[in-house]
Amino acid sequence: MVVLGIETTCDETAAAVVERADSGAGNILSNVVLSQINEHAAFGGVVPEIAARAHVEALDHIIARAMEQAEMRFAALDGVAAAAGPGLIGGVIVGLTTAKAIALVAQKPLIAVNHLEAHALTARLTDTTPFPYCLFLASGGHTQIVAVLGVGNYVRLGTTVDDAIGEAFDKTAKLLGLGYPGGPQVEKEAAAGNPARFALPRPMVGRAHADFSLSGLKTALRLEAEKVAPLSDEDVRDLCAAFQQTVVEVIADRLRSGLKLFFERYGKPAALVAAGGVVANEAVRKALNRVAFEAATALVLPPPALCTDNGAMIAWAGAERLALGLTDPLDALPHARWALGDVTGPASPPQVSASTAASGEG
Ligand code: KG4
Ligand code: ZN
Repeated sequence: MVVLGIETTCDETAAAVVERADSGAGNILSNVVLSQINEHAAFGGVVPEIAARAHVEALDHIIARAMEQAEMRFAALDGVAAAAGPGLIGGVIVGLTTAKAIALVAQKPLIAVNHLEAHALTARLTDTTPFPYCLFLASGGHTQIVAVLGVGNYVRLGTTVDDAIGEAFDKTAKLLGLGYPGGPQVEKEAAAGNPARFALPRPMVGRAHADFSLSGLKTALRLEAEKVAPLSDEDVRDLCAAFQQTVVEVIADRLRSGLKLFFERYGKPAALVAAGGVVANEAVRKALNRVAFEAATALVLPPPALCTDNGAMIAWAGAERLALGLTDPLDALPHARWALGDVTGPASPPQVSASTAASGEG
């Protein structure tokens, strides 16, 4: 089964062609990503209208390149998938409408994919991970711990009550005068900094629930920065190191709680799976290793290029849904907001009970 996937929910224009074997194994035939970072850098963040216009200009070429690299024709596809949300609505409309046009002309089924579901299922593309598993999703817009029980069957175990983790990295970078996007810049500065010089609060740490809170940390960092201003290069490095170390400790603690909740409700997960741009961070990846090791759980960390937004994850989620007969009508709506828990699955979703959960496919 071969599916074209289109991603335009934020500031990446992306298209990919992915194959799914009957066995459930995945194979990426092409994966083309055009980042709009340069368009938005001057504004210190993504400007929705600029993003939508840039998607309009680039998308046709990106799709053509993805098809060319995969040596595919539209007529040979089994389906056309696009991220139908959640995201910046202008961009979502561009991608979804383009997918509908291709589906209509080539007479192929359309799959309107939830962007978060695509992040959630990437571990099955890279590692054929069986259900159920515990997902840690950390991007610029989302921070969630999710029980992934099947395609279209997701239960949120924890989320952020304020800022997303990637957003906190971006705001920290902005505060310290580093560029956009902030995550990679903060990581670079942190590598040479002293994490012990500034003491920052660790919100939610030790709680039994699996929720996050990042805004207090951001405020504390601003107050520390104000105390030592004007900032030297060393101050910036030390503040970045303190921030990153704190976030990493918070992530580890919240994941321990999330895994405990997962275990109580669904038994042992087949794996701890991570996704989202923040997971490109080396210190975060190390913490995930530690948490998975402590919990005696396999860790699935897709390569950084598949953790950040890309077309392959959309194509793959499309293929997984298509394999279950889950297609969408040509009047499927774009969504600015679309919670993972509202994604629908097969008519009678496979029920995962504590007793079957340990055996993998539920
Ligand atoms: O998943 P993603 O590419 O886009 C969405 O938000 O959907 O995630 C982007 C976020 C940004 O907030 C960015 O600062 C953060 O991921 N990020 C990082 C790193 N690379 C990207 N955060 C920390 N360390 C990094 N190396
Ligand atoms: Zn994303």
